[in-house]
Amino acid sequence: MASTTSGKIAEFRRLLANARSVLVLTGAGVSAESGVPTFRGSGGLWRQYRATDLATLTAFNRSPSLVWEFYHYRREVVRTKQPNKAHIALAEAEKRFEKEGKRFNVITQNVDGLHRKAGSKNLIEMHGNLFVVRCTSCNFIEENTSSPICESLRNRGLPDENGPEIDEKDLPHCRKCRSLLRPHIVWFGEQIWNDVLEKIEKEIQLCDLFLVVGTSSVVYPAAGYASLLSERSILVAEINIETTPSTSIANYHFHGPAAQILPQLLSTNVN
Ligand code: APR
Ligand code: ZN
Repeated sequence: MASTTSGKIAEFRRLLANARSVLVLTGAGVSAESGVPTFRGSGGLWRQYRATDLATLTAFNRSPSLVWEFYHYRREVVRTKQPNKAHIALAEAEKRFEKEGKRFNVITQNVDGLHRKAGSKNLIEMHGNLFVVRCTSCNFIEENTSSPICESLRNRGLPDENGPEIDEKDLPHCRKCRSLLRPHIVWFGEQIWNDVLEKIEKEIQLCDLFLVVGTSSVVYPAAGYASLLSERSILVAEINIETTPSTSIANYHFHGPAAQILPQLLSTNVN
């Protein structure tokens, strides 16, 4: 059963100090205070669509123009956002743990790249990254931070403006084989890449303290990690502004915004 926040922070900090291998799973809530909209809260709609309707291969095959407009918009929004105190607390904790010869890893479901921007290095972006593209034909993958990603998307993708379809030949193309590019993101109905799953499996095996931050814990496989670890008697702590399916299995539930709670849990200069 989860404990309430008050009085439990000091207790948690003592447990953290003794941990040898910390694993953190983050979701959209960790970026909420940077101004990146979450998926399932308000602000989850773009035009009349839910993000979950556009983040699919079916939607892309039906209209690569529409899906590229959506991703172009998200790239342009996220580009303006900065890591918040939650991202920074995680990046600093990683450095401190490494210095002490201990493990500290972050698995994120977020595609906004804000953990990278904050300086996290032991990072698994399990759903990909908005600023990485993949060729639909030859599978070439590369980082692409261009703004706009191609000329035809300039000033497009606005949530309240429905322009004409962009011809496929004018959408982003592979510089190796000239085929259509897509965002290197795991869409609904797609499998997480095997190399990523292997890395996650390794961290799950090694971890002795698991922190679940700002995720609704409904999208698998990430939603299953807390119960998997709890069954192995690994300490599980959750930070969220609401309760989730992970709350009842967590040893600690810290109720509140990640940018406020994480620094209290992780930083050294808190009394
Ligand atoms: N601090 C902590 N938690 C917060 C905050 C905050 N400031 N703001 C919101 N939250 C919590 C919400 O209560 C919710 O539980 O963050 C969670 C956000 O949930 P979702 O929007 O469902 O995001 P996430 O869990 O990351 O979604 C998982 O689903 O849509 C797909 O692939 C997409 O990676 C995404 C995955
Ligand atoms: Zn190609």
